Amino acid sequence: MRRPLVMGNWKMHGTTASVSELLDGLGGLDAPATEVAVCPSYVHIPQALAACHGTGISVGAQDCSHAREGAYTGEISASMLTDLGCQWVILGHSERRQYHDESDALIAAKLAAALDAGLSPVLCVGETRDEREAGDAESVVAAQLRGALEGQKSLAQVTIAYEPVWAIGTGLTASPAQAQAMHAFLRQALAGLAGEALAAQARLLYGGSVKPDNAAELFEQPDIDGALVGGASLKAGDFRQIIQAAGPRG
Ligand code: 13P
Repeated sequence: MRRPLVMGNWKMHGTTASVSELLDGLGGLDAPATEVAVCPSYVHIPQALAACHGTGISVGAQDCSHAREGAYTGEISASMLTDLGCQWVILGHSERRQYHDESDALIAAKLAAALDAGLSPVLCVGETRDEREAGDAESVVAAQLRGALEGQKSLAQVTIAYEPVWAIGTGLTASPAQAQAMHAFLRQALAGLAGEALAAQARLLYGGSVKPDNAAELFEQPDIDGALVGGASLKAGDFRQIIQAAGPRG
């Protein structure tokens, strides 16, 4: 049985005051069946760690360096994140691929660094609208998966997030059937890379305009094990409703 995971990706949002308000709004969560995490900007991580202490909500970062340490001005290493108390790191988000030209090779190096440091990576994959319309969605995500995961020492700690680029921040969501079809495909592809047993226990999250009113039907799909939530994770009430929707099924 895979425990659902609902993770908020706060992207480049927030001030000390708004982060404090948001975290206050997540207080007293009662969702024992669901794992909950938030990924603030780097500068708000210590604040989030302090506020989440003892709440059951874990904290992650939105990226990390491929390098272990050294002369990399402006970079944050994976071991700095574990040293602070982070558990997670999002890697390969489409906004990093698009605006920072991140290649599969760079994402693979970041993933190796994260695993070495003891972080649990959440690897994002997803096709653009043009790629979907050309019928290439599966081959694109399969290549992203292989490019990041092939040759890694262990994949047991890796979570995959399917985030179709056309659904991110657009209000368009993949239909539950579209999302399920891609998740089933990804699980099969993961089995090819890491074996059936690991693929059966790996959590596959859906991301892209997840909201309180569409979360439940996404979570009903057998291969959707939770969500990576952008905009709606910045509103405590909406995020709480999404977390509740992931709760015990049936
Ligand atoms: P939205 O939920 O705002 O569409 O963002 C999804 C996302 O990119 C999460 O990583």
